[in-house]
Amino acid sequence: MVVSRRGASAKAPRTKFESSFDARIVVGDCVAEMSKLPSGSVDLVFADPPYNLQLKGDLKRPDESHVDAVNNDWDKFSSFAAYDDFTRAWLLACRRIMKPSATLWVIGSYHNIFRVGAIMQDLGFWVLNDIVWRKTNPMPNFRGRRFTNAHETMIWAARDEKAKGYTFNYEALKAANEDVQARSDWLIPLCTGDERLKGEDGKKVHPTQKPEGLLARVLLSSSKPGDLVIDPFNGTGTTGAVAKRLGRRYIGFERDRTYAAAAEARIAAVEPLPDATLAPFMTAREAPRVAFSELIERGMISPGTRLVDSRKRHGALVRADGAIMLGDKVGSIHRIGAVAQGSGACNGWTFWHIETNKGLRLIDELRAEIRSEMAAL
Ligand SMILES: C[S@@+](CC[C@H](N)C(=O)[O-])C[C@H]1O[C@@H](n2cnc3c(N)ncnc32)[C@H](O)[C@@H]1O
Repeated sequence: MVVSRRGASAKAPRTKFESSFDARIVVGDCVAEMSKLPSGSVDLVFADPPYNLQLKGDLKRPDESHVDAVNNDWDKFSSFAAYDDFTRAWLLACRRIMKPSATLWVIGSYHNIFRVGAIMQDLGFWVLNDIVWRKTNPMPNFRGRRFTNAHETMIWAARDEKAKGYTFNYEALKAANEDVQARSDWLIPLCTGDERLKGEDGKKVHPTQKPEGLLARVLLSSSKPGDLVIDPFNGTGTTGAVAKRLGRRYIGFERDRTYAAAAEARIAAVEPLPDATLAPFMTAREAPRVAFSELIERGMISPGTRLVDSRKRHGALVRADGAIMLGDKVGSIHRIGAVAQGSGACNGWTFWHIETNKGLRLIDELRAEIRSEMAAL
């Protein structure tokens, strides 16, 4: 969710992104299919390419039981050179369709991420960060011959060095992180439980389904509602499911029909979050000022209305001039809110409510409506 922070507000988007929402999965080779999209049309790429794990034979635990590892044909390449050619081809296809301000994320493990990173730089991408996704519940190293492989790396890059205006929702991330700058190490569990897609046989539909929490952080940090997000390696559609929930448009590319069908059903079941929870974050300083009297002028609150706090312990009368009255005290919504609480200061917007037939409504919500109208002008 887009965060709200003490003293901050959310700016409504200029476009109605819910109605413009669409999610599409294209079945086919991503390089061939991406070449059909217009150049400079995509806002964000998230790519979870084959890892090229180079697994030889069956992986077993010390008790000889089988380990459910990635051993699929889509992860097999004849050599590093073949993997590099493939990497170059899909990265170039992405780069062509990215807007100049777009950014690209690639997730990988030690098997592939260094090769991918070097190729990205060779092609002109400009690395902004590498994010370490630290897994709370990694698979152990069964043979005890190496460290537990407990993380994956995501490279986040701009289309080129001089790229300007890429999206980074710095303030919202900071507000969501106890007002501390968001860091490049993310602690998130693997995808398990109900979130993990299973077939009728109870087996995982896909061996490398990513957690939605990871994708939510990616999309919330580097895209805006209404943006076009693509994923060249759609798999089970994790990126698409999160994109839809967060009001982003989405195109996923997937070669395997079974995965594509599972992803389609998954995404269809997702409900987008309400617009108000997704509106881009603004600090209080950036938000346009709205006076309480404007709520009266616009007929949203009538003089004579009783404002109450959330527990209805205090009731103040709205005057025609936009001040409010509590007993014999008259003043602003903030001043009278402070008087009611016996405190030195109060944000009246988040203290006072009006009573409606559907329950209490915070006056800050009415202010947000005015701000949305202002933003749409
Ligand atoms: C690592 S998985 C992605 C998993 C996905 N992130 C998820 O959460 O389910 C890579 C996917 O890319 C697909 N794939 C591999 N090569 C492809 C290609 N050239 N074009 C389209 N899809 C491809 C594979 O079938 C596989 O489902």
